[in-house]
Amino acid sequence: MSQTRIESMMDEKRLFEPPAEGRETAWVKSMEEYEALYKRSMEDNEGFWAERAGTLIDWFTPFTKVLEADMDTPSIKWFQDGTLNVAYNCVDRHIANGRRNKAAIIWQGEPDEDVKVYTYQMLYDQVCRFANVLKAQGVGKGDRVALYMPMIPELAVAMLACVRIGAVHSIVFAGFSAVSLQNRVQDCEAKVLVTADAVLRAGRTIPLKKNADEALRECPSVTRVVVVNRANANVDWVEGRDLWWHEQMKAPGISGHCPCEPMEAEAPLFILYTSGSTGKPKGVVHTTGGYLTYTAHTTQWVFDLKDSDVYWCTADVGWITGHSYIVYGPLALGGTTLMFEGVPSYPGPDRFWQVVEKFRVNIFYTAPTVIRSLMREGSEWTRKHDLSSLRLLGSVGEPINPEAWMWYHEHIGGSALPIVDTWWQTETGGIMISALPFATPLKPGSATRPLPGVDARIVRPDGTDAQPNEGGHLIIRKPWPGMLRGVFGDPARYKSTYFERFPGAYEAGDGARVDSDGYFWIMGRLDDVINVSGHRMGTAEIESALVSHPSVAEAAVVGMPHAIKGEAIYAYVTLSADVEETEELRAELRTWVRKEIGPIASPEVLQFADGLPKTRSGKIMRRILRKIAGGSTSDFGDTSTLADPGVIADLIEGRVDLT
Ligand code: WTA
Repeated sequence: MSQTRIESMMDEKRLFEPPAEGRETAWVKSMEEYEALYKRSMEDNEGFWAERAGTLIDWFTPFTKVLEADMDTPSIKWFQDGTLNVAYNCVDRHIANGRRNKAAIIWQGEPDEDVKVYTYQMLYDQVCRFANVLKAQGVGKGDRVALYMPMIPELAVAMLACVRIGAVHSIVFAGFSAVSLQNRVQDCEAKVLVTADAVLRAGRTIPLKKNADEALRECPSVTRVVVVNRANANVDWVEGRDLWWHEQMKAPGISGHCPCEPMEAEAPLFILYTSGSTGKPKGVVHTTGGYLTYTAHTTQWVFDLKDSDVYWCTADVGWITGHSYIVYGPLALGGTTLMFEGVPSYPGPDRFWQVVEKFRVNIFYTAPTVIRSLMREGSEWTRKHDLSSLRLLGSVGEPINPEAWMWYHEHIGGSALPIVDTWWQTETGGIMISALPFATPLKPGSATRPLPGVDARIVRPDGTDAQPNEGGHLIIRKPWPGMLRGVFGDPARYKSTYFERFPGAYEAGDGARVDSDGYFWIMGRLDDVINVSGHRMGTAEIESALVSHPSVAEAAVVGMPHAIKGEAIYAYVTLSADVEETEELRAELRTWVRKEIGPIASPEVLQFADGLPKTRSGKIMRRILRKIAGGSTSDFGDTSTLADPGVIADLIEGRVDLT
């Protein structure tokens, strides 16, 4: 993250009191109430969570044991003798409790006329049918099912169908390449893959099944592929393996009822791969009872979700934000969740505001990168639409800079609405640090205070507590129900990534400071992970994609500040001997990364470099590369350990400016 951004946040003095309107009916009504809840949650942590889990979730067998945790081993078990089913909680119980005809999912496709509304009753029918389809293909409890799908309602249906029968879904974002899909499917040994013919995006039809076919050439575990017809696109067909979704859903013997499998609270619910500081993405494992409790709890308190609300989270379901806050959290509470297929800029930069007006959206949750890009288009686009239905705004994925915060506040929030800046991670399952909208006074750029139940601290590298305003490592000391329970197939990595450095605590990998009012200011990742438009990218992953190209000898990737994306990918590439540095090769390498990982990983800037700044022991000094990428020409700190200090001048000379 850029120095100027950190400094501008250091100076931030503005304070915005929560609005009076809405307080009376809010789930948490005042700062005094927050303080009391927080205190109680720390003093009687188990009691606090037992009450939330008991209130929010319907258990088939109630739990008697709340927590068994050892953060060193680590071994974390919440509500372990309870049984439940997530689909039951997200669908079935709402049919019985009077929400049968309520919209569960409002789906807005990319073409404006493509709208589908699923009431809870209709969702029940679809989920049961697809659960039966999966069963008919031999999928059972504990089996993995990979979902590689566009933002279409069938994705939510497939998720709920998996969890209904105890199968574990692993969603792969549809923007990932065939190679990325293959790695993920191989790692979790999925039995079935669900995909679609194509994705509609900004007016174009992008083939999707083609990638799936390519990926599956080396995925022997997958025996069936179910294909949704989204775009009437041409597809190749593998007889005996491929099945059409619409045919299967109506097949003889596929009924609209399917019993819910009673699951143990600690049974795996899903796997979601996320980038880490080493090459291979980690399969983060979440479990049934804790995850559902945590997402329902945070959706209720942070978004103040009420029965009459239309709630819209603009994320893709392929990321954790979509899992927790498009599907599981809102549906567990019987809410109405809007699922949107398009992009913010198509057909025009007012697409989001037009959708808000169309459905009279009340709660709107998006990413700072979206705000920054729409802010650039000017406020006339927001004025074209009636945004008066909105009552609460949210932000997620990266620090929101005060300028973007103020624009969001003024132009979308009419200078009146609360903005919840929510800090969390794939691993945390749900929101950890955030304002409570009708209780917490806001400071632009701060995620404010930890939620009740969350024991967040800032520590120095030696583990001692940091002083107010002293930057350090963000850790969580007490377990919470939504925390990850493993890295699929790799217990050693689970331990070493999160629990080793600060014994007895969970290490987030982010830097942060707490000001004298107890407000948290997230400063960005401390590891080799960069945050591009709110998406986590491992630099090692991109480097290994680059060096797999025959012309590349060595590569080093760093983040550089970017006005819209927050950070952009800057790659330094040393070519093999005798390979010429040409513009064609530069373009080819960027395309290569798109193919290896996906468009989001393609470097914004690719600089050819004859040498990289290495220590005498051969370690690349990324600190220097980051500075050069950011435009610095001096102040490189201690460079005495460099094997060849002359390389710095060459790198500065060869720097590529973003135009
Ligand atoms: C960053 C997304 C500042 C952070 C939910 C974290 C944030 C990583 C915020 C997780 C925020 C997320 N303020 N930084 N409000 N929210 N981050 O796993 O660096 O895709 O570690 O989860 O995003 O990204 P992930």
